[in-house]
Amino acid sequence: MAAVEFLPNVYWVGVVDWNLRDFHGYAAAPRGTTYNAYVIKGEKTVLVDTVSAACSRAFFEAVEAVVPLEAIDYLVVNHVEPDHSGCLMEAVERIRPEKIFCTAMGKAFMLSHYHRSDWPYEVVQTGQSLPLGGKTIDFLELKMLHWPDNMGCYVREDGLLISSDAFGQNWATSERFDDEMDFNEMAGLMGSYYANIILPFSEHVLKALGRVEELGWPIRMIAPSHGVILRGHVEEAVGLYRRWARQEVARKAVIVYDTMWKSTALMAEAIAEGLIEKGVTVRVFHMKACHHSDVVAEVLDAAAVILGSSTHNNGMLPLMADMVRYMEGLRPRGRVGAAFGSYGWSGEAPKQLSEALERMRMKVCDVLRVKNVPAEADLAVCKDLGRRLAGEVDALAGA
Ligand SMILES: Cc1cc2nc3c(=O)[nH]c(=O)nc-3n(C[C@H](O)[C@H](O)[C@H](O)COP(=O)(O)O)c2cc1C
Ligand SMILES: [Fe+2]
Ligand SMILES: [Fe+2]
Repeated sequence: MAAVEFLPNVYWVGVVDWNLRDFHGYAAAPRGTTYNAYVIKGEKTVLVDTVSAACSRAFFEAVEAVVPLEAIDYLVVNHVEPDHSGCLMEAVERIRPEKIFCTAMGKAFMLSHYHRSDWPYEVVQTGQSLPLGGKTIDFLELKMLHWPDNMGCYVREDGLLISSDAFGQNWATSERFDDEMDFNEMAGLMGSYYANIILPFSEHVLKALGRVEELGWPIRMIAPSHGVILRGHVEEAVGLYRRWARQEVARKAVIVYDTMWKSTALMAEAIAEGLIEKGVTVRVFHMKACHHSDVVAEVLDAAAVILGSSTHNNGMLPLMADMVRYMEGLRPRGRVGAAFGSYGWSGEAPKQLSEALERMRMKVCDVLRVKNVPAEADLAVCKDLGRRLAGEVDALAGA
């Protein structure tokens, strides 16, 4: 796509990856993504970030439409993850920048990714600025949002925060701005991105938002590294980030399970009925019909997480092991949980699921096991668990 000048002398020079579906090998990106890079022109010209190596041709075309490569003075590397630094080798070769601005960790990561000690690294910290002549960039370390090297840049004259991966959405679109899109749709994708990538670092989100407040920077626009640029809904987006970072939850429950012969599915349905009867919003996922990243996107604002598996070779089914491992790493906190499952003789799976919930520091309301096929009385117990969980959900969600 052609470059877009969206503020005077500030250009989007990213690439739209329409066909991407597997984000970094662990999350699903059903709508593709974009890799956003930016050119800022003052008396000096700077290129902020690059894109995935697979998109190098489109990237250099976009940059060259805005400025000849040899006229770029500086590179800013906000993040060394390959979706943003993938064209760095070529960029440094062709641009021969005077300086490459990055955090200390950014330098270390560039060295261990590209093994070039001869590059002109310039390590910066929060509070340092780069006057370009007509434009001024203030650097902001965004450590652990979501790697140790992440950094943001604030363009003082425009109130523009280039936020790296924070505020990203996996969304391939021809539109470049949130005010050209449906806000709720955008927020849903931003939430899924948060749940799958940022959630473990929620404390760092709150710290970074506090730091920006201390610095007194008025934020008119937020330009993330993926998806659309925020300019119509900056306050709402920041509000959502604050909510998610505080792990605030709604009257919502997520039930996720796997099954061989559908007995555990019957239990899941009955638990859902009990919750629904009490007016709780419910999302039920059978692991064979969904991706783990779809589940955690719903866990983001769910007060209850209910895990089910029948017992298979003395343990939980493999897709549930995948789910639990993935969810644990994302560190959802402050929720209630329950575990359930059908079994034939030893029945270890529900206990293993409840241990996983405990490791996520969730209060485990119950661990339900049914031998083989649930009878009506067993399903009544499941439904009652749903009703009891609704009470816990109300307490957590402040209803
Ligand atoms: C390959 C296989 C391995 C199993 N291993 C165990 C086991 O180790 N312990 C146990 O209690 N049940 C075991 N079972 C029995 C199932 O847990 C039981 O059939 C259960 O009712 C299945 O529930 P589902 O229909 O929800 O899959 C196994 C079943 C199969 C097919
Ligand atoms: Fe990243
Ligand atoms: Fe990224």
